Amino acid sequence: MTYAIVPAGGLGTRMGSRRPKQYLRLGRAPILVATLKTLVRAREIAGVVVAVPESHVGETRRLLARLRVPRILEVVAGGADRQESVWRALQRIPEGAERVVVHDGVRPFIDAALVARVLAAAVAGGAATCGIPVRETVKRVTDGAIEATIPRQGLWLTQTPQAFTRALLWEAHDKARRDGFAGTDDAVLVERLGVTVTMVLGLGQNLKITTPEDLQAARAWAVPRRRK
Ligand code: C5P
Repeated sequence: MTYAIVPAGGLGTRMGSRRPKQYLRLGRAPILVATLKTLVRAREIAGVVVAVPESHVGETRRLLARLRVPRILEVVAGGADRQESVWRALQRIPEGAERVVVHDGVRPFIDAALVARVLAAAVAGGAATCGIPVRETVKRVTDGAIEATIPRQGLWLTQTPQAFTRALLWEAHDKARRDGFAGTDDAVLVERLGVTVTMVLGLGQNLKITTPEDLQAARAWAVPRRRK
């Protein structure tokens, strides 16, 4: 069986709104609800554990029930960073789970085919993520001055969903915690075990809604999609 973890425990300080960004509206529903509804369209996913800010646990439970988001196992209190939120949610994944998909709560523009693609790669190799090759020229900049140009060949921008065997994800998080290592995704924690993580092609549209500009772009993009 495959279960999913959706980290949505951020307070969204870069959005500059008082309400965490995952609760801002995209069309008729909050971003988090749009993400969850899209994620559970993937038939492979038996249940989802969602991590939200501690202050929003009760409200989120009520919201997901009211909007009839299917296959929600639990809503748990997230931690101080994304990694801690995923770890807390992982505690609630049923022990019999073979695989776990991790998907950011602020990435609503995925589809079931992408989830299936990432999962198939994780079935084959134990760990997989999606991403897209870097198409622009990459510079390292300090105080407005270019320090270096980094050859883009072989560079990918990493997205979620990512998928792992439950045992591997557990071991990777456990080791990172013991080492005091903080990563910005789950794949890096598995890479640290010396295990190869497969990269599959993600979607150009798979925006992580982080800033007000992202939200504007997401809203512009969501309207024509809903009319289809
Ligand atoms: O912080 P970042 O923008 O990378 O967030 C990616 C995802 O991780 C978001 O869905 C965010 O809500 C979540 N997150 C979390 N717990 C935190 C911080 C971020 O679950 N403490």
